[in-house]
Amino acid sequence: MSSNDILLSVRNLSVGFHSESDIVTIIDGVSFDICKGEIFGLVGESGCGKTVTALALLRLLPKPTTRILSGSISLAGMDILALPLQKLYDVRGRTISMIFQEPSAALNPLLSVRTQLDEYFEYHEYAGNPQQRIDELLNRVGFPDPDRILRAYPHELSGGMLQRVMIAMALLLKPALIIADEPTTALDVTVQAQIMELLIEMQQELGTSILFITHNLNLIAQYADRLAVMYAGRIVEQSNLESFLFQPQHPYSRGLLAALPDLHAENPTLTPIPGQVPQPSEYAAGCRFRERCPHTFDKCVHKPALFETAPHRRVACFLYDPEEK
Ligand SMILES: Nc1ncnc2c1ncn2[C@@H]1O[C@H](COP(=O)(O)OP(=O)(O)OP(=O)(O)O)[C@@H](O)[C@H]1O
Ligand SMILES: [Mg+2]
Repeated sequence: MSSNDILLSVRNLSVGFHSESDIVTIIDGVSFDICKGEIFGLVGESGCGKTVTALALLRLLPKPTTRILSGSISLAGMDILALPLQKLYDVRGRTISMIFQEPSAALNPLLSVRTQLDEYFEYHEYAGNPQQRIDELLNRVGFPDPDRILRAYPHELSGGMLQRVMIAMALLLKPALIIADEPTTALDVTVQAQIMELLIEMQQELGTSILFITHNLNLIAQYADRLAVMYAGRIVEQSNLESFLFQPQHPYSRGLLAALPDLHAENPTLTPIPGQVPQPSEYAAGCRFRERCPHTFDKCVHKPALFETAPHRRVACFLYDPEEK
């Protein structure tokens, strides 16, 4: 991967939540790159920080309680954290857009779907025919009669319909990077496949990059090129898909994969990881997985570096510390 191929570069990103008395770090020193045309997976159990990371990339963290404490985000050569607001509004939707885990976060309850989609084209220049693009996308997300949806207000639509409207909205301007945060959770399997197909088509035809956030490792196995595994606000493993699936390294990654039922087995078994993801206010010093880890040893009370175990492969675990070998 050469630096020319990189579209998004995140370095040492930390996000904090201001409680009444202090600042709790939710995201702690996260770094990753996404290449042009790549599908990059971000996985981990509920509460590990995937959505907060995504919102930080768009500078959409809920104010005033949550804010970026340190780090840098470079997108298509732009320093996102230093962009003036006007420029940031221009970048959102056109260069980077997000399919939100919560569709209600993206839609205004007071405006019809038509008004909300039209607004995109009032604000941003578009080379083609906006109406055609809107109809085409609504069709593609499974609305054969776009007019009916365009007339509706958000409260008249089901959760799955809202999610599909929001997906259409995020794709309207053919952004260079789409953040898809659990894009298909509220959808039935047929529509889910249709949406994934649409995303893949954009990736293949337009070279769109996708940050694909999910805790569904089956979807990751099907679609991602590379991935990062998050645990308790930190990235604990980064790998290409194949190495991850066949040789997961971090004990947490191994646990996640072991927790998947093997659907081809005669008696599918599932071995859940014991324990739970801690709350940010309870993050321990050292390795945050150590209390759930079957391999914990004395060094784990310290914070592990991301050790490079192969080219472009990193693992934050002392089992891979060259000094241990
Ligand atoms: N605005 C906020 N204020 C305080 N804590 C927050 C806020 N938003 C998120 N958190 C906490 O930050 C942690 C990470 O949350 P996040 O929503 O990023 O998890 P996630 O990985 O997306 O989980 P899920 O898979 O359930 O969507 C959680 O412990 C959550 O409680
Ligand atoms: Mg989330």
